Amino acid sequence: MKNKEKIIKQTIRFVKNTLEGEGSGHDWWHIYRVWKNALFIGKKENVDMFVVQLSALLHDIVDWKFQEKNDFKIVKEWLEKLNVDKNVISHVLDIIKEISFKGVNVKSKIKTREGMVVQDADRLDAMGAIGIARAFAYGGSVGREIYNPNIKPKPNEFFKTTKKKKGTTINHFYEKLLLLKNLMNTKTGKKIAKDNHNFMKKYLEKFLKEWEGKY
Ligand code: ADP
Ligand code: NI
Repeated sequence: MKNKEKIIKQTIRFVKNTLEGEGSGHDWWHIYRVWKNALFIGKKENVDMFVVQLSALLHDIVDWKFQEKNDFKIVKEWLEKLNVDKNVISHVLDIIKEISFKGVNVKSKIKTREGMVVQDADRLDAMGAIGIARAFAYGGSVGREIYNPNIKPKPNEFFKTTKKKKGTTINHFYEKLLLLKNLMNTKTGKKIAKDNHNFMKKYLEKFLKEWEGKY
């Protein structure tokens, strides 16, 4: 147990250092929040918290470090260096390979309870107060308008619009964020998602009213 705690601590440092090296230090906080979400959900589900924590901490490192190559070697080598059990390593690798959200029409291949917890934890960070902040931050970074009533949301074209300038951040809620609630895996995740979902809906209602000067 002591050893596992040490491995988690070392992995936290490893992830922080890797992300800072990339010049995207702020993204560490996404990992931090997913890790915290995973701890919260995982404690209420019957899962191996060591696998859950390692997967949460490492779930996005490949994306950032090797955008195109999808090279999971960095994770494998890191865990081997720490003498993590072979079965744990392959479980963690399976989870982080399957974790990314590929649009609402792609069926999730998450197989284990541990994977479900981490996927829920990641999705929750795209919802609620944090999710709203992230959406506008992302939209701004790719030059999207916050809203434009002339551009209608295209819920089934998530893939085509997501990384492009066209489209607005408000539309992103209808194209992705409001759909996440129904994709949650765990009981605890579903409960939190419902709350976060309602918060976003209220936010959107008020946003659209203010847009037209209706109070
Ligand atoms: P994930 O953390 O699930 O891998 P992404 O990397 O796709 O999510 O996106 C990171 C954050 O940016 C999320 O909060 C997501 O909602 C937001 N985001 C992604 N695409 C858009 C978009 N087209 N407009 C606004 N926000 C977006
Ligand atoms: Ni993530």
